[in-house]
Amino acid sequence: MTEKNSDVISIENIKKISQICINACSSSRILFEEKHATDYKDISQFKVHVYMSLVESIQILNNKGYFKEVKNLYSEVCEYIPESNKKLRNILLNEYEIADGATHLKSFPRHIQFVMTMQCNLNCIMCSEKHENVFATDKELDDLIAIMPYLQMLTLRGGEVFYDKRTGHVLDEAYKNDVRVTIVTNGLLFNEEIIKKILRTAGGIIFSIDSPFKETYEAIRNGAKFEDLIQNLKIFKKLRENEKKDVRLTLNMVVMRKNCGQIEDMLHFAKEYGFDSVVLAPVEGKVKGKNENFFEQNKDFDLIKKIDAKKDFYMKIADMLSIELINKLPGLTEKDDFENDYSGKSVKSSDCNKTASSLFCYAPFRQMFKPIGSYKPLCCCNDTETDINSDNARNSILECWNGKNMVSYREKMLRHNYKDCVEVCLSAKEDTFEGKKILLWEV
Ligand SMILES: C[S@@+](CC[C@H](N)C(=O)[O-])C[C@H]1O[C@@H](n2cnc3c(N)ncnc32)[C@H](O)[C@@H]1O
Ligand code: SF4
Ligand code: SF4
Repeated sequence: MTEKNSDVISIENIKKISQICINACSSSRILFEEKHATDYKDISQFKVHVYMSLVESIQILNNKGYFKEVKNLYSEVCEYIPESNKKLRNILLNEYEIADGATHLKSFPRHIQFVMTMQCNLNCIMCSEKHENVFATDKELDDLIAIMPYLQMLTLRGGEVFYDKRTGHVLDEAYKNDVRVTIVTNGLLFNEEIIKKILRTAGGIIFSIDSPFKETYEAIRNGAKFEDLIQNLKIFKKLRENEKKDVRLTLNMVVMRKNCGQIEDMLHFAKEYGFDSVVLAPVEGKVKGKNENFFEQNKDFDLIKKIDAKKDFYMKIADMLSIELINKLPGLTEKDDFENDYSGKSVKSSDCNKTASSLFCYAPFRQMFKPIGSYKPLCCCNDTETDINSDNARNSILECWNGKNMVSYREKMLRHNYKDCVEVCLSAKEDTFEGKKILLWEV
């Protein structure tokens, strides 16, 4: 924790918070790493550990359906958390409201994925976005900045986010408010000033690079020049070495037919340019070109199986290169699994969860995706007509947060009704499923 959000709390109160967490976790048989003040150099480090554990354990309890325990934990712990710690108090209130089955939330969103502009310099073959010259309104940006003291994480995206010159100002405000920022970018439009702001802010940057080879890269990323990408990656690497090393650098590879044989090369490329992690994401939806989307349309079971069979090999290479590999490609190995197409079916909660009462997806309660003119829990959720282009979808982030669309997703989750949820969620592996992601206290 930095000086900016430091709160004053006595060592006795930190110990009390720690004990309350231990009790809540042990009654639910959840592992809690107990530490003592004497394990730390100073009280602030002990406080960080206790806060981190509190934030993680209350979410694990909720994710496992221990709602009564979450409510007890909340009511016992709250009196010890200083009023000045808006972020932590908001996290706890949010988890309490989930446990309480609330659909209109008093807590603020903890992670917002915010689209600055729809405009883009490229026209990638798999991209379904309309690249119009539209930008988030100033009112939306003001709203975003106003709730930053409560926000844990902010993901900035486009279109191409660096088309919008206001991005630098948003980064400054995020820095002031200890918000972890993730930027998703094609990496072709930024300059040194912006790179320095990114490196100052906690969080990470995700470069979308679908091939380590010029020919394939340019065939997928229409309008891009491979040489420009390489030049920017070199500048980024140099500044990162000079300024700060702990901004996480991730490479996102959208896997389709054209590039599915290049995963190993991609890992070596990632190493060369200093990436910490590589995400392998299956392409979704329509793609220009023949049979490119073999995961959904024209499903190619043999190819899926072939790639899946190499997953341990890719993991070994990544380990050898000290790169974290997040493999989101569908991991189907049994014939039955191949034939099991979930689309359009309702999944019973017992199919997806360990306890009957836990929810399949917590995203509608913890997070919001805010594209221009609409809103929904995550970008992968189905678009609904509800509220799109209404005033609140265009103007106010907080109205969207409790707007019809979010409330309807929350109601569906509480009723264990997932029939409108997308296949990518229904067939996701538990450990990489965004809807169950624990939003850690990391600042
Ligand atoms: C829509 S882009 C916007 C941000 C930026 N322009 C970029 O390309 O990184 C966000 C992410 O979605 C990925 N993406 C685009 N089309 C996709 C698709 N059809 N399936 C899966 N991911 C896709 C991109 O590669 C990128 O990582
Ligand atoms: S750079 Fe990003 S937003 Fe632009 S076309 Fe490609 S995937 Fe879409
Ligand atoms: S399961 Fe997927 S589609 Fe359904 S609400 Fe969660 S993130 Fe959205």
